[in-house]
Amino acid sequence: MSIRIPFHDLKRQNEEIEQEIQACIAGVLQKGIFILGEEVDRFENEWAEFCGVSTAAGVNNGTDALELALTASGAVRKGKQDEVITSPLTAGYTALAIVNAGGVPVFADIDPQTLTLNPNTLEKAITLRTRAVIPVHLYGRMCDMQAICEIAYQYNLVVIEDAAQAHGAILAGKRAGSFGEAAAFSFYPTKKLGGLGDGGAVISNNPELIDCVKILRQGGHAAAMQSDKAGLNSRLDEIQAAILRVKLRRLDEWNERRRRFAAIYNQLLSDTSLKTFSVPDNVDSHVFHLYVVRQEKREILRRFLLSRGIETLIHYPFLLHQQPLFRHAEQPSLPVAESVGNEIFSLPLYAQISREEIQETAQAILEFEKKV
Ligand SMILES: Cc1ncc(COP(=O)(O)O)c(C=O)c1O
Repeated sequence: MSIRIPFHDLKRQNEEIEQEIQACIAGVLQKGIFILGEEVDRFENEWAEFCGVSTAAGVNNGTDALELALTASGAVRKGKQDEVITSPLTAGYTALAIVNAGGVPVFADIDPQTLTLNPNTLEKAITLRTRAVIPVHLYGRMCDMQAICEIAYQYNLVVIEDAAQAHGAILAGKRAGSFGEAAAFSFYPTKKLGGLGDGGAVISNNPELIDCVKILRQGGHAAAMQSDKAGLNSRLDEIQAAILRVKLRRLDEWNERRRRFAAIYNQLLSDTSLKTFSVPDNVDSHVFHLYVVRQEKREILRRFLLSRGIETLIHYPFLLHQQPLFRHAEQPSLPVAESVGNEIFSLPLYAQISREEIQETAQAILEFEKKV
């Protein structure tokens, strides 16, 4: 079956800004500096300002950004079995970063309405070894940061936001990434702010933390080539930074388009058996990294959509507390995540999708509903 409505079409975004992209790449070629130069400096300043924090450090990807934030904040110390609580419903990279930093990921259950970390279950998962929490703003929707930060304050935990899917999202007037001690972003091409390759950043209001990330991202060399700390080799390159600066100017507009498309889906699917996850507009701004729905007959519906040439994906097909790398004996079962995990899937939605493609996808779902 040929795909007529792809889950993503990254070419469309680049076509919209092709001349600016070509010009900024040409500018970098002309300067002849390719790693951690002026473009990276400028992007770091612009990204920190956009997010409403004081500083940022560009790194090679979102996974490294999380690992470096955990290390630079002092939350996770190598060899100490420090526990970090996070959600079981997220990309495996969230937990991988905890392991790479030398910590132990512990998973707490999610809220069935928001699919993000439930503050009550978070509190129950805290032990004497817990040092940090990573709330994941899943699918572009912010976690309940007020409740999470209050619990973290009470138990002296470091909050590192995983904002890899939430560029530009706002909660109570503040951008994603400006609530915790630090936040990590990914600029993987499919993200709302994405490069033409890998990229990531740590942001924080703590300049010492960011200075430490800047040392760690370059092999841990504080002075030229002097090995002080066990760092990573995780640098942002000039071409990616230049491209991200061009796209940052469009981010709010592109997020607004995503919200409008999500509202069309919400409306067209309102009389179906699918559960949608809308948010009240006046409370916060969801940036719909993904448009996720819940349906018991997920596989039959996905196959039907594919037979119509409509591509869907599952985010995520495996819950992290059940993964061989992260599974451990003391981990309790997580009933909400386990029931939701079998039913969720994602419909095509991105800033350059057309209204007709959204309508056709919704129409196909309505047809399916009539049949079953
Ligand atoms: C929630 C979440 N955290 C972390 C990451 C890791 O980002 P990257 O792929 O840039 O390492 C991703 C991206 O896949 C993500 O979606």
